[in-house]
Parts: sequence; structure tokens; C-alpha cells
Amino acid sequence: MSTPTRIAKLTLDDKTYDVPVMSPTAGPDVLDIRKLYAQADVFTFDPGFTSTASCESTITYIDGDKGELLYRGYPIEQLAEQSHHLEVCYLLLYGELPTAAQLQDFENRVTRHTMVHEQMHNFFRGFRRDAHPMATMVGVVGAMSAFYHDSTDVNDPWHREVSAIRMIAKIPTIAAMAYKYSIGQPFVYPKNELSYSANFLRMCFAVPAEDYVVNPILEKAMDRIMMLHADHEQNASTSTVRLAGSSGANPFACIAAGIACLWGPAHGGANQACLEMLREIGTVDRIPEFIARAKDKNDPFRLMGFGHRVYKNFDPRAKVMKESADEVLNLLGIHDNETLKVAKELERIALEDPYFVEKKLYPNVDFYSGIILEAMGFPTSMFTPIFALSRAVGWIAQWKEMISDPAGKIGRPRQLYIGAAARDYTPVSAR
Ligand code: SDX
Repeated sequence: MSTPTRIAKLTLDDKTYDVPVMSPTAGPDVLDIRKLYAQADVFTFDPGFTSTASCESTITYIDGDKGELLYRGYPIEQLAEQSHHLEVCYLLLYGELPTAAQLQDFENRVTRHTMVHEQMHNFFRGFRRDAHPMATMVGVVGAMSAFYHDSTDVNDPWHREVSAIRMIAKIPTIAAMAYKYSIGQPFVYPKNELSYSANFLRMCFAVPAEDYVVNPILEKAMDRIMMLHADHEQNASTSTVRLAGSSGANPFACIAAGIACLWGPAHGGANQACLEMLREIGTVDRIPEFIARAKDKNDPFRLMGFGHRVYKNFDPRAKVMKESADEVLNLLGIHDNETLKVAKELERIALEDPYFVEKKLYPNVDFYSGIILEAMGFPTSMFTPIFALSRAVGWIAQWKEMISDPAGKIGRPRQLYIGAAARDYTPVSAR
């Protein structure tokens, strides 16, 4: 637990209160207001938590002004270039880069948990074929707690470890099954000799009628997409997982809650919404019309894939994703991709427009990811499930950090109540 570096003074009415100030490794200092209500009988008010640190964490750090993202201190650009997703999973879970032996052991443990209980296949068949894969993922991941009773005791470190491995191992299988079910094709079992990302691609695109050989370029691009989405400090879905976990709910139920929150178009659903927006724009000559709508206060339309609560500079993931988009499309021989042309022109125009400049709205992680995923052959409905399977390690790492904190307690915010004051019931005859 951090200790105060100095004391701030809060004066309210005619009283002054000491508010301890704590200093992080990086980022803004924090005012520790844990005792404020008991001392001053007041709440703080911060809907949307724009100025609130909800926890201490050692996992991920974002500097929104610099456009910096660190996983356990390592810049995302270096990891995207030199690492791979399972190594990043190890780093996020255990705090250090693994030795070769540690990495091999971790990969073996994950690989041996990639299959799901055979009876879980039945869950999918209860959904309509046209159910959004995020709907099936929320349902099936939540149902994991009905199967894996031997790893749901959150107070048992071994159970926490096993459920972390199971979640990381099985979520690509579940995402692929959600996709296969939505297109009426049979489920494809994982193949343990494949890499994590190659296994996922094969489970999505292989069919019993013919062999499927994973394209190494797509394997690398998929792995990079997973790394870029792996964790992102206390975003909405991670905060959901932490809050769910603070009640002692089992890890599978907590991750299902995170998947539900990620689905929203303001969050992980933006990658699907962004590609659909780029398609609706269609050609670069229609861009001004959409820019005008995004600036119109009376129009709820927003440029999907733009803006961010924290980044007031380029999202470093968007930069890497943009490079990947160029690489994947060129290597796949997709040169006249109208969607990419619209995306690049939209980015250029938006970055010059005073509205976006003043509000510091830059492309975020969701702006280019859909272009790559579409080029790989995924429908837009699979974009957010891929975000979810990539973020699963971040959710589980943050959940483990929260649940292992001996000082942890259930999250229970208060409110600024502006409803009716106490009043007596009146019988209907008197109303
Ligand atoms: C993700 O938190 C994370 O870390 C999330 C994430 C992760 O890895 O977990 O990074 C993943 O969710 C990325 C964000 C994906 N969402 C989108 O691309 C949807 C479009 N973006 C917006 O909805 C918005 O930018 C948010 C939700 C991302 C951030 O919203 P904020 O921080 O609450 O900011 P805001 O909505 O208050 O906007 C500030 C101003 C507003 O104008 P004013 O009311 O001040 O006049 O900027 C405007 C907004 O109208 N604005 C936009 C805009 N985003 C913000 N105007 C047009 N287009 C946009 N995209």
C-alpha cells in the first residue's frame, strides 16, 4: 500500500481537514479521501470517474498526454514488435518477462486447457443462429462457472491460478465456437501444435471438408492485435470485472460481466461500429458530411474509433494497428481497399479540423483494427469478440490483483441524491 508524501488541506465551512497525498511511480498524485466522509460528513462527486483513482495497480500505465502505454513498465511498441501474446499474458499475470523455461511451461499449461467441456457445446444450440457472438460469449463464459467448480474458490490461490489459465486458454475456443455457430458451420477443436493465434484462426476458418493452413502473416497480425488489446488500466470493462470480483463472485462470472460491458459501442463495440461507419461513409467525398454531423451538438452521431477518455494524443495502439493494416493489406494483395482509403482520409481531415484538435480527439485502438480483421475474413460481428478474447488476460490479471489484496473490500459507491424527500404514503382513493 502506498504511503502519503505530503498533506493537502481541505477547508469546508469553517473546518479544515487533512487529506493525505500519495505519489505514484508515474502519473498524477492522488488525494486519499478514504476518511473524508467519516471526518467531514461529505461525499466526493465524480460521475464517469474522470478524476478518480479506483485502486492501486502495478499492471498497466497509460500517459494520455504522451500517448504512452506500458504493460508492467514495458512500452507497447516494443512488445508489439518483439514479443507475442502468450508472453505478454505471462508478463501481465506475473509481473516479469518469463525465462525460456518459464515461458515454455506457461505455454504448455495454457495449451492443455484449450478444449471446453463437451457439454458446453449444447449452450450454443440454445441461441438463435443470428444471435450476436457477444451474446453467446457472455452466456457461455458465464456458464463456465457451472462446469469448473474446482477453480471457483476465490480465496484459494491455486483456484485463482487455475481459473486464470483456463480463461486464457478457453476464451479463443469459445469465441471461435460463437463464430462457427453464427455461420452454421461445425465447431473446430483446437490443435495443440499450433500457436495461440494460429489456433484461433484455424478454429474460425477451418472446415471438415478441407484442410486449413494458417497464413503466417495473418497469424502474426492476429497475435499483434491480441497483444495491443490485452490490458488498458481501469477502463469500463476492467472496472466492471473488479467491481463484480469485489463481492467475491467467481472469476468466470466476473469475466462474463466484463464481456457485457465491453460490448457497448462507446467501448469495445466501437471497432464494429467504426467499420460500419466507414462503410456507410463509403467514399472520401462523403467525409465532410460525417465530420459535420460529428460536430453537430444536436446530432448524437460520433466518429467511431475517435476520441478517448485518457488519450489526448495518438493512441499508441492505433499507430501500431495502422502499420499492421498497411502490411496485412499489401501482403494479401488488397490494394484498392476503399475502406482504408476512407479511414486514412478521415483521419487526415479530422486531425486538421479545429473541433477535433481543440477536443484532442485522435484515432483510438478501434479505428484501424476493423480494417485488418475484415481483411482476414472476419465479419464485423466478430470484431468485439476478438477484443474480448484479447482483453481476457487483462481482466483476469486485474481481478487477481484485486482479489489478492488483503485490504480489499466490496466496491460500493455512494450518490448525490436529488430525489423526493421523505413523505407519507397516500391511499389511491386520495390521489
Ligand atoms: C475503447 O477506457 C479505455 O481505455 C477504453 C479502451 C480500452 O482499451 O479499454 O481504450 C477501448 O473503448 C476505446 C474508445 C472506443 N470508443 C469510440 O471510438 C466511440 C467514439 N468515442 C467517444 O464515444 C468518446 O470519445 C469516448 C467514449 C471514447 C470518450 O468519451 P469521454 O472521455 O467521456 O469524452 P466525452 O464523451 O465527454 O467527449 C468530450 C467531448 C464532447 O464534446 P463536448 O460535450 O465537450 O462539447 O468530445 C466530443 C464530445 O461530444 N467527442 C466526440 C467524439 N468523442 C468525444 N465528438 C465526435 N466524435 C467523437 N468520437
